[in-house]
Amino acid sequence: MVNSKIAGIGFYVPEQVVTNADLMKVMDTSDEWIQERSGIKERRYGKKHEETPTTMAANAAKIACERAGIKPEEIDFIVFATLSPDYYFPGCGVLLQRELGITHKEMGAIDIRNQCSGFIYSLSVADQFIKSGMYKNILVVGSEMHSMGLDFTTRGRNVAVLFGDGAGAVVLQPTTEEGKGILTTHLHSDGTYAEELALISPGSHGGKHLGKEQFGFPEALYGEIFVYENLIENKTYYPNMNGQLVFKTAVTKFPEVIMEALNKVGMTPVDIDLLVPHQANLRIAQFVQKTLRLPDDKVYNNIMKYGNTTAASIPIALCEAWEAGKVKDGDLVCLAAFGSGFTWGSALIRW
Ligand code: ACO
Repeated sequence: MVNSKIAGIGFYVPEQVVTNADLMKVMDTSDEWIQERSGIKERRYGKKHEETPTTMAANAAKIACERAGIKPEEIDFIVFATLSPDYYFPGCGVLLQRELGITHKEMGAIDIRNQCSGFIYSLSVADQFIKSGMYKNILVVGSEMHSMGLDFTTRGRNVAVLFGDGAGAVVLQPTTEEGKGILTTHLHSDGTYAEELALISPGSHGGKHLGKEQFGFPEALYGEIFVYENLIENKTYYPNMNGQLVFKTAVTKFPEVIMEALNKVGMTPVDIDLLVPHQANLRIAQFVQKTLRLPDDKVYNNIMKYGNTTAASIPIALCEAWEAGKVKDGDLVCLAAFGSGFTWGSALIRW
């Protein structure tokens, strides 16, 4: 049977380090508040107007390709996960293809817009393509440049302090080695709370969920009023988060979807060699660790250094762990994520 294996992995984070003290210069916050609630000490911000999710992804992808022993032009499909794309459209997949100079005519590219669980969804999509025999070298990327779209005033402090920029990439290839590679993936969604963790403008919602009916203006006039009320006044072009709801739901869904994956392959938490959770918040990761009764050396967290890099957080953390020798041949690695949508998912990999 053919499975997919991670043949190469790479990550890139921008040089500029932004500490909690730096944020205190522009908004009313404190190092103590941020560390106590999220565990974050510092994060990286890309160079504005020079670096983008695509350029950062290209840096990570080149490392992943080199480690997989292939040239970028040997990639036959790109799956690109981001919530902070270079453009509204086209997606980052084609921009990355161009950045990497891939011109052969078998090439395909898609973007996955599943925010924090974007990398797990992307990995699962790529896994199906490999198993079906459709592609041989798939580049799966998560990349975010949050620093271009956060509200750095005190109004946006509950969200702005949490996020950072960066990119991670893996090359997926088929393997026939018995019991190796991606063993199982599990994807879930529930749109009930879509607006509780969202950035809703620009969009074609036309005020739905924002009390459009209360205005009672003709459509023609409504457009301008809507733009003013919601874009300018309510700043709906910044992310909005109901932090407590996200926290409560995340600490339930993370263990649930990890157990679902373990049950599928007849294993239990003690079989996990390394859990790499989406780096949403150190408190969430610690809660999950406690629920699954995993010792410290079986969970990899790096949110302290990079903040929450959304779709990039899992491949960055996985790559860092691998570079530090924490992922060895034969290890059972568990990846899991929860985020906006709500969407959540898990993957079990025998390295
Ligand atoms: N600095 C200082 N004070 C702040 C900040 C800040 N950066 N942000 C909010 N506050 C204040 C609030 O204004 C509020 O003040 P008030 O009591 O005077 O009204 C007070 O702190 C408490 O605010 P809450 O929002 O109730 O704070 P809470 O204890 O819930 O912590 C947090 C907020 C950290 C976001 C928490 O809800 C949480 O961890 N949620 C999980 C969400 C998460 O991790 N999201 C990551 C992105 S989504 C994902 O990846 C899944």
